[in-house]
Amino acid sequence: MSLLEVTGLTVRFGGLVALDGVDVVVAEGETVGVIGPNGSGKTTLFNALTGLLAPAAGDVVFLGRRLTGLEAHAIARLGIARTFQASRLCLDLSAFDNILIGMHARRRTGLLDSVVRRGRLVGEMRAAIERASHLLALFNRDLPRRGFERVGQLPQIDRRRVEICRALAAGPRLLLLDEPSAGMNPEETAELMRDLRIVRDEMPGLSVVIIEHDMFVIEGVSQRVVAFNYGRKIAEGSFAEVARHTEVRAAYLGTETAHA
Ligand SMILES: Nc1ncnc2c1ncn2[C@@H]1O[C@H](COP(=O)(O)OP(=O)(O)O)[C@@H](O)[C@H]1O
Ligand SMILES: [Mg+2]
Repeated sequence: MSLLEVTGLTVRFGGLVALDGVDVVVAEGETVGVIGPNGSGKTTLFNALTGLLAPAAGDVVFLGRRLTGLEAHAIARLGIARTFQASRLCLDLSAFDNILIGMHARRRTGLLDSVVRRGRLVGEMRAAIERASHLLALFNRDLPRRGFERVGQLPQIDRRRVEICRALAAGPRLLLLDEPSAGMNPEETAELMRDLRIVRDEMPGLSVVIIEHDMFVIEGVSQRVVAFNYGRKIAEGSFAEVARHTEVRAAYLGTETAHA
């Protein structure tokens, strides 16, 4: 069964066609890798899926529902969570603060509750911190102990983990990761790959779409790969199939045949 069905998705910025009639399907529990040169439309795909920008044409169907026209918070509530290419953590806040922000999408108490039903709010906060600790511990057993420290004091790899935990905290069905290995050294990248395998083992029903520059990561974590160039999907299949695709090779070597 398809969790996500994208058909003919088109996004324009003035005269620029950033996405040009893209079709992508993601099955439940599947990890799909997205590759393509800079500017090929990968982040734009995520922005369109999460309601950050409105497509000019095409359809996005998630869990049988059309997402077209829905606002970002409504899409998040339906079960799509993401991380951003550039970190969006609040470095002055703690890991727990950051993760609890991610849980907001499914919080049940409102402002009135915080005034008249303090007990219930405190209970909910406690449960939220427990859940955040559980998520952090999946990646690094020592991380929950540092959950109240400023995130800015954590090493890069742990910050990235906090970001992924924040996305997971909302209990999504689909997780979108935008270049999670950006800014990491090879050791940290290897740890990140291990983390992504943990996510897959712990949450087998979760679908993941990962944009990555690092082909080693793509090969290591994705079951299927989609390649973009100039806003079009140019190849799709196993890593090996996509890696030997002529147009993909041309796009990465930067020869003109890629655009022909
Ligand atoms: N908000 C925007 N306004 C104008 N142009 C944009 C905007 N976002 C992206 N673009 C352009 O759309 C194209 C695709 O960008 P993007 O999806 O970020 O590429 P990728 O993530 O594959 O590197 C690029 O040419 C980029 O400059
Ligand atoms: Mg990008």
